[in-house]
Amino acid sequence: MSKMIRKASTFEIVNHWILAVSCIFLVVSGFAFLFHLEQLNTVFGSFITLKNLHNWVGVVFVVSLLATVSHYLPVALNLSSEDLVWLSKGGGYIVKNVKLPEQDIINSGQKLYYLAILGAGVLISISGFIIWIAPGSRTLVLISHLLHNLSFIVFVMAIPIHAYLASIANPGTFRIMVQGTVPLEWARKRHGKWVKRLGY
Ligand code: HEM
Repeated sequence: MSKMIRKASTFEIVNHWILAVSCIFLVVSGFAFLFHLEQLNTVFGSFITLKNLHNWVGVVFVVSLLATVSHYLPVALNLSSEDLVWLSKGGGYIVKNVKLPEQDIINSGQKLYYLAILGAGVLISISGFIIWIAPGSRTLVLISHLLHNLSFIVFVMAIPIHAYLASIANPGTFRIMVQGTVPLEWARKRHGKWVKRLGY
């Protein structure tokens, strides 16, 4: 049996699920507000209850998002021409068997995904907080609504792609967010740069 190596710590696994569940709840309740899905209000008691839940789950989401920064941001910001090569070849998803540059603990696509989620996450949290505490300025609240909705679109587009790529499309990936470990050979193929750094 292939040697297993650790890709995510217990903290990262637990935090990912807090992030994922809170984010999905926020997206679903966000849809309910946007499209007036009265049935969802009924499930949660009333519109006010759902609104309060949305605000407080938003706090959980932002804390959980900030807890990912030390682990993912340095590697996501470590961009080079190799990332452009990886992206220009579509990460091997469009044309199979292309030669791709070796990847770090996350690949170039995951780096962009992380930066998009972090950027949109910060924007959606700040604008959401402004709407929540609703200061006197009507213009500020209107701009916040616009930014809140624009960053919402990023989540609605990025998360289904992420969930698909992290599960069905790449067998063996989902276990990272369950067990935290991957087979050494699996990691060597997908994250060669990281595996070499670990000394294997
Ligand atoms: C709902 C189904 C989801 C599944 C199956 C899933 C699965 C995964 C897996 C397996 C990883 C580790 C990838 C790796 O280390 O190579 C990961 C990472 C990550 N997930 Fe999710 N996730 C889901 C939802 C979400 C949601 C809703 C968010 C919301 C923000 C999210 C944010 C992240 C982030 C920021 C990372 C780190 C960057 C990356 O590795 O791509 N995930 N996810």
